[in-house]
Amino acid sequence: MMPVLKVTDLHVYFDTSAGTVRANNGVTLEVREGESLGIMGESGCGKTVLFLSLLHLQQPGRIVRGSVELDGRDITRLDESEMERLRGRVIALVPQNQATALNPAYTIRQQLTEALKVSRSGGSLGSLSSRRSNDYADSEEQFKRVFEDLGFEAGPVLDRLLRSYPHQLSGGMRQRVLIAMALLMRPRLLIADEPTTALDRAIKAQSLNTLQRLRGSLTMLVISHDVEAISATCDRVAIMYGGRVIESGSCTDVLSRPRHPYTRLLLAAQRRTRGEPLSAIAADTLNLIDFPRGCPFHPACLEAMPVCALETPPEHLTDDAMVACHRYNVEAD
Ligand SMILES: Nc1ncnc2c1ncn2[C@@H]1O[C@H](COP(=O)(O)OP(=O)(O)OP(=O)(O)O)[C@@H](O)[C@H]1O
Ligand SMILES: [Mg+2]
Repeated sequence: MMPVLKVTDLHVYFDTSAGTVRANNGVTLEVREGESLGIMGESGCGKTVLFLSLLHLQQPGRIVRGSVELDGRDITRLDESEMERLRGRVIALVPQNQATALNPAYTIRQQLTEALKVSRSGGSLGSLSSRRSNDYADSEEQFKRVFEDLGFEAGPVLDRLLRSYPHQLSGGMRQRVLIAMALLMRPRLLIADEPTTALDRAIKAQSLNTLQRLRGSLTMLVISHDVEAISATCDRVAIMYGGRVIESGSCTDVLSRPRHPYTRLLLAAQRRTRGEPLSAIAADTLNLIDFPRGCPFHPACLEAMPVCALETPPEHLTDDAMVACHRYNVEAD
């Protein structure tokens, strides 16, 4: 079956006064219908640049090579008006910062109504207009439906929520509103950027629970550096390092039996720092301007071989898993 999203060899560079920053260096991945794919990696590995590039929002970065296909159609070179029709409605984003993503001047009901209008009429989200919103008779039904999907019973609590302004809600509740807003658009693909960052433990659990409910019924891309968030919400995971996917496979396999030396280090560091932000392992030492030859991880790799400094490791594929590491090519030969 054709994947919903297929990214092939995507290269995204930023020109800076210090030189060209190679933020994405050949990202290849697929998200299949109804599955939830996690993208995991340290700060700076290129996660945000990747999803911004899918939406053509990576300015001032430029896509220098590669393709992004949505339901088989290459969207890499669509113009801005075509992308506007796609953003929100076909690819919806749950932004990272729930504290600032909602408009403080409007109630939740007004903001959800606007999202509904956009999903039906075209145009883009982001400019709450003074248009009247009374001609959406079934909008309340729609709101109930999406909140029910998120585990929220219709009743006085929901009524109060819809009447509230963003500042009257907790962080967890604002995040559910953002997810509800994305769901109202009935998107083909939902991207959640760092859904648990900056949330305390109780709210984090709520947030994961919300995403878990959607799992299976929606095609999702969950971006996180947190193994707990990925394993709770994803079927498959892609590990990024140096702007590239270096290992992917089912969550069960990759998280319990990581094969790439970097993935093993990443998971070990998470176990040590459980609950705390992930400490830098190797990304700090990687220079994205003066990119090392061979495998980008080889200078920090405890298992590096001479070939690792010379040649970029090819993708080694087995069944549903991929690892880009010379060790596996040697073993396979
Ligand atoms: N506008 C820009 N100009 C120059 N370099 C940039 C720009 N935006 C991003 N980068 C660089 O691209 C690399 C990837 O950044 P990105 O934001 O995608 O990382 P990330 O994986 O999302 O990290 P985090 O977990 O901290 O969100 C970083 O080294 C970053 O400094
Ligand atoms: Mg990021």
